[in-house]
Amino acid sequence: MRTSQQRGEGAVKNPYLPYPVRIDQVIVETDDRNIKSFRLVFLSREDEEAFQYTPGQFAELSIAGKGEIPIGIASSPTERGHLLFTVNKAGVVTTALHNMNEGELMGVRGPLGRGFPLDAFQGKNVVIIGGGFAFTTLRSTVQYMLDHRDRFGEITVIYGARRPGLLLYKETLEEWASRDDIDTHYTVDVEAEGWSGRVGFVPAVTEEVAPNPNNAYAIVCGPPIMIKFTMPVLTKLGFTPGQIIMSLENRMKCGIGICGKCNTGPKYVCKDGPVFTLEELNRIPAEY
Ligand SMILES: Cc1cc2nc3c(=O)[nH]c(=O)nc-3n(C[C@H](O)[C@H](O)[C@H](O)COP(=O)(O)OP(=O)(O)OC[C@H]3O[C@@H](n4cnc5c(N)ncnc54)[C@H](O)[C@@H]3O)c2cc1C
Ligand code: FES
Repeated sequence: MRTSQQRGEGAVKNPYLPYPVRIDQVIVETDDRNIKSFRLVFLSREDEEAFQYTPGQFAELSIAGKGEIPIGIASSPTERGHLLFTVNKAGVVTTALHNMNEGELMGVRGPLGRGFPLDAFQGKNVVIIGGGFAFTTLRSTVQYMLDHRDRFGEITVIYGARRPGLLLYKETLEEWASRDDIDTHYTVDVEAEGWSGRVGFVPAVTEEVAPNPNNAYAIVCGPPIMIKFTMPVLTKLGFTPGQIIMSLENRMKCGIGICGKCNTGPKYVCKDGPVFTLEELNRIPAEY
């Protein structure tokens, strides 16, 4: 892995070549220790400048001798100087990453894919609905909107996990909750000692909070079961498919629309997505 200087000034970047980064901090996010966040810093200023991303995009994280995995970018571009990725320990590469320590080197290839349509969000109310560890790019989006607060209307966050110990980004959640320019609703599935937030599943809490669909968009990311039961709630509240935005997590290889591994119908999730409106997904013919 070479820095941009080593690749040569002005050279066209090879899309398969990762940027070298150093693990600056490892944060254990959940009480079961299965989810960790990795704060990564670029080795060169040129690489950091070249990596311009928007919330909702992802990157391929590469671990020498193990492989590459697509992971959503959890930091906001407004948080300069580092990238944040939050990784659930699932298999070979994620386990290797979980075993790495602060100071070690790895690679980041990207940014990849199409992020959330922040231009369309300008002046609109935005409802963020997240469940479990799919909150990663939602963290990026909320933080970005808060750092450009005047560009957006009301921001509502509904975020749930099975129990308090599985909620990500606890300090950030508290910081958001302490502000008066964002409406936060954190929930857990069942009562838990010391928990003073809401209790109930995300779809039920969405129904209770009842965000207004006028002049609004809703982003929904979470486990399939949460998405399945949240969609009818949003429809009942009056959100149209064009106002509902999702992010898909199909299996991937190249991440740049070449290998054909990630398709959903005629769309490549890596290049045309991972962010789609429900309207776009509904247009994909049923035989896919
Ligand atoms: C655009 C995108 C963004 C993602 N963002 C995140 C993120 O922010 N944090 C995070 O923890 N994970 C994220 N994922 C999922 C992550 O890429 C996979 O969990 C990872 O590739 C598993 O790699 P592994 O080598 O550890 O597991 P493997 O050894 O390859 O597989 C372990 C297990 O995980 C399953 N698995 C592997 N990949 C996927 C997948 N894409 N979807 C569902 N199941 C899978 C396998 O079937 C197997 O059961 C994202 C995926 C995509 C496509
Ligand atoms: S992962 Fe290769 S085309 Fe999408």
